[in-house]
Amino acid sequence: MERFQKLILIPLILTALLPGLGFCYFIINGPTNATVLAGSEARFNCTVSAGWVILIWLSNGNPVLTVINSQGAVETSDRFTSQNYTSSNGFTSELIIHNTKLSDSGKIECSIQQASENSFAFLSVQVNGSLCIKNSTLTVNDNKTVEIVCEALGWAPAPDITWMTNDSFIDKSRYVTQQSQGSNDLHNALSILTLTPVDTEILTCLADIEALPSPQNATVTVIFVNSTIENDYSEDTRSTWVIVLAVVLSFVGIILLIIIIVVVVRCCCLKKRGSTYQNEIRKVSTEKKKDGNLENRQRHGSENQGYIPEELWNREQLPGIAPLPPVSSKFTVPAADLPTSSVPKVQPQRPTDYPTNPKKIRNLTIV
Ligand SMILES: *[C@@H]1O[C@H](CO)[C@@H](O)[C@H](O)[C@H]1NC(C)=O
Ligand SMILES: *[C@@H]1O[C@H](CO)[C@@H](O)[C@H](O)[C@H]1NC(C)=O
Ligand SMILES: *[C@@H]1O[C@H](CO)[C@@H](O)[C@H](O)[C@H]1NC(C)=O
Ligand SMILES: *[C@@H]1O[C@H](CO)[C@@H](O)[C@H](O)[C@H]1NC(C)=O
Ligand SMILES: *[C@@H]1O[C@H](CO)[C@@H](O)[C@H](O)[C@H]1NC(C)=O
Ligand SMILES: *[C@@H]1O[C@H](CO)[C@@H](O)[C@H](O)[C@H]1NC(C)=O
Ligand SMILES: *[C@@H]1O[C@H](CO)[C@@H](O)[C@H](O)[C@H]1NC(C)=O
Ligand SMILES: *[C@@H]1O[C@H](CO)[C@@H](O)[C@H](O)[C@H]1NC(C)=O
Repeated sequence: MERFQKLILIPLILTALLPGLGFCYFIINGPTNATVLAGSEARFNCTVSAGWVILIWLSNGNPVLTVINSQGAVETSDRFTSQNYTSSNGFTSELIIHNTKLSDSGKIECSIQQASENSFAFLSVQVNGSLCIKNSTLTVNDNKTVEIVCEALGWAPAPDITWMTNDSFIDKSRYVTQQSQGSNDLHNALSILTLTPVDTEILTCLADIEALPSPQNATVTVIFVNSTIENDYSEDTRSTWVIVLAVVLSFVGIILLIIIIVVVVRCCCLKKRGSTYQNEIRKVSTEKKKDGNLENRQRHGSENQGYIPEELWNREQLPGIAPLPPVSSKFTVPAADLPTSSVPKVQPQRPTDYPTNPKKIRNLTIV
């Protein structure tokens, strides 16, 4: 019975005591760490139990906002404002820091002006800097090792740099990243990737800080040129050249053949013409030779018949009448030559023909 009474009495005593103390209240939930990008806003909650009197927000030890239970929030700067929430748990004050600066980074405290320790958290304001790959498009030959440089400038804190090829991460051993202090508490980073490409690849340099929802990235395309393929290509070009040469030569050959054929055909035509002409002449000559007997008989016969008697007459008449024979011979010779249409040239040859003529004359005499 005594125990049971004691168990009932304890809560009764506690409930009787707390209101009696009046200022005995405590922080149920303090602020939690926050990381934000510079320029954005940061929010922190502090929940206190019922019966609270005053709540003070401190940034890096300096009071920035005070909330009094009876009056509400006392704001002295545009950059520090608050919102209030009341629930069955207690009272929640939300501190809103607007347009955060790098200098806002640090300790954010919630104080209730009590003996109990302040509740605190850390604010990290970060700066999204720039990122670029120094090399634009690269063309790399077989077995060539290249260094690709990625530069991050004006970051806070120094970014974590990683590299990707196409869609997979590159092992950390293949690149070296150096960090350096820049101006205004900002940081720079330089990452050098050593690469021996075996294929065309899209390289991505990623810079990450906690405040960024996704890493900032820069890319470069490394175009791999396979020298073997190049050789193949050159061989191909060689073979194509050979083909072209062969085609050209064959074409030239065909043209030459055509020219030769044309020339031959023309020659044949000329020969035919020439042959006919010559043949005619030959025929004529052969006819003269073959039928010479008849023609010669007629022609020479007429000549001879007219001539020989003249000559004979002349020779016979030579001693008798001297001036007449030459005149008569001159007249008679052209007259004899006219049917044969021979040129007067023949005239001087006449005397030389005489030795041959006697044979003909003989033939004539034989026939
Ligand atoms: C809050 O940040 C501080 C400093 O960065 C760290 O020591 C602490 O562990 C963090 N607390 C939580 C709950 O993450
Ligand atoms: C603070 O608490 C309120 C109410 O519960 C909630 O809506 C808000 O998101 C909280 N803010 C933070 C920064 O946790
Ligand atoms: C960070 O900076 C880059 C380059 O200025 C910009 O493209 C990107 O949107 C920024 N990220 C955020 C979250 O503001
Ligand atoms: C590339 O390097 C390998 C090994 O070092 C070698 O066997 C190969 O012949 C090289 N290729 C060229 C095109 O230099
Ligand atoms: C890439 O750029 C850096 C800096 O401009 C230079 O030192 C390096 O030689 C370049 N790499 C190649 C493969 O051109
Ligand atoms: C990377 O991507 C390029 C372009 O999409 C492709 O040509 C190349 O083969 C890829 N390289 C690897 C190693 O997957
Ligand atoms: C690079 O950034 C762009 C936009 O900032 C994003 O769309 C893309 O997915 C990113 N690439 C990688 C590999 O993270
Ligand atoms: C280059 O191309 C040849 C032929 O396609 C191939 O056999 C060889 O493996 C390639 N070399 C590299 C380094 O990819």
